[in-house]
Amino acid sequence: MSSNKKSQWDSNLTFILAMIGSAVGLGNIWRFPNVLYSHGGGSFMIPYIISLFLLGISFVLVEYAVGFKFRTSLSKILYSINSKLEPVAWIVLTIVFLITTYYICVVGWDLIYLVLSFTKAWGSNPDLYFSQNVLHASDSISGIFTIVPNVLVSIVIIWLAVWVIIRADLNKGIGNVSRILLPLLCVIVVIFVIYSLTLPGASIGYSQIFSPNWSALADPDVWLAAFGQIVFSLSLGMAIALTYASYLPEGSKLVDNALLVAFSNSGFEIFNSIGIFSILGFMAMTSGIAFNDLVTEGTGLAFVVFPQALNMMQTGFIIGPLFFLCILFAGITSAIALLEGVCYSISEKFDFSRKKTAAIVCTVGFLISTIFATASGSFILGIFDAFLNNFALLFAVLLECIIFGWVYDFDELMTTLNNNSRIKIGKSWKIIIKYILPACIFGLWVQGILTTFEEEDPVSITIRTILLAVILILPFILSRLPAKNEDFYEKIQ
Ligand code: PFF
Repeated sequence: MSSNKKSQWDSNLTFILAMIGSAVGLGNIWRFPNVLYSHGGGSFMIPYIISLFLLGISFVLVEYAVGFKFRTSLSKILYSINSKLEPVAWIVLTIVFLITTYYICVVGWDLIYLVLSFTKAWGSNPDLYFSQNVLHASDSISGIFTIVPNVLVSIVIIWLAVWVIIRADLNKGIGNVSRILLPLLCVIVVIFVIYSLTLPGASIGYSQIFSPNWSALADPDVWLAAFGQIVFSLSLGMAIALTYASYLPEGSKLVDNALLVAFSNSGFEIFNSIGIFSILGFMAMTSGIAFNDLVTEGTGLAFVVFPQALNMMQTGFIIGPLFFLCILFAGITSAIALLEGVCYSISEKFDFSRKKTAAIVCTVGFLISTIFATASGSFILGIFDAFLNNFALLFAVLLECIIFGWVYDFDELMTTLNNNSRIKIGKSWKIIIKYILPACIFGLWVQGILTTFEEEDPVSITIRTILLAVILILPFILSRLPAKNEDFYEKIQ
């Protein structure tokens, strides 16, 4: 991250583990099962796999090629392509940073549930417990001045953990954490899924995933949902793949690596959802509640429905902690990846050391996260999430796509990718990146606008306006500030 000494992965395996760790996150564990279920079950896999190959992997390849070719941070890359493009990099990074501030809060909630799960302390009404005892939630802005101590403590712990990891050298910090947490995560998920499959009623659940509703394929929303899941799950356009690929040694096999990471990420979410659905099937059978009424996403699934299911299991005190540990590990490896790209750009431009950058970014990030540790936290988090994910980020990805597909010499990227890889990329990739991908992202973005801006209450409008102002003003300032590191202005060939 420091410009003085260029970091490099100590092995290709470390890179792959870090990349998979960045992709496998909350989106895989609680977003995917719901998207899969509500968009046709088994038939959803068709648009999902097509989106993965056609769009997801194609864009990951762009990020790999750009990061590997330029071997520097996003801001310097865009400056080097055209100095007028530097603000775009800071816009992307500001959005990613803001997303991290609430992503870490959700990981904090998970930490609380990890502790609670040993004794199933949520009692017989997990729904009420979550909103009243954990979040002390008020569904308006009136609770903004009421700090919720347990949420604050959990946020402090997660930010401290993230800070300790990213301030360390690349291989000692992100490298070691990925090498330890990712294998552990895999072991836990395997135990979780195998155990879930043994529960009575499991087949009621997992058969839903594999019973396709073919008519769903005619619905454009299903295709957009599949693509949206790929964007979210592979963390497309968040400068993660680009940053991590810039730390690869010469001669790395980019295409092979990209395929391995993308397949592992999708394999993880499909496999994990078998476990989640089996548990929901068990719950439907035990409680008599219709299966359809149980399926939900996000906080509803992890912190309400899942504790309800654990209440019905005698072994809940074992499977519960495993599930919450899984989210914790997946969340931490994704959070550090989100921040690495942000830190890299700051340290390169302003010639800050890795430690100094990590301290600044984590302190500011933590201060913003404290908003989510108030009684209005979950309410504000919902507004942040809808605006940043459905609207701002997609717009940024669209810009990146246009810059790398149209402004930069595209054939250069193709040569970079094909240089060492066993699997070669053909001309059709160019057509995808230049035409198909921007069109799909645009479609997703328009859909995002329609849903995000449906909300018309004055508080949502005010928060969205503040966010928009930050996303536009901060990048403008950061790109105007002179670089302390003279190399920043050097053109990279
Ligand atoms: N891909 C990761 C996940 O699925 O959780 C990381 C991530 C994606 C973080 C999208 C934040 C985000 F908005």
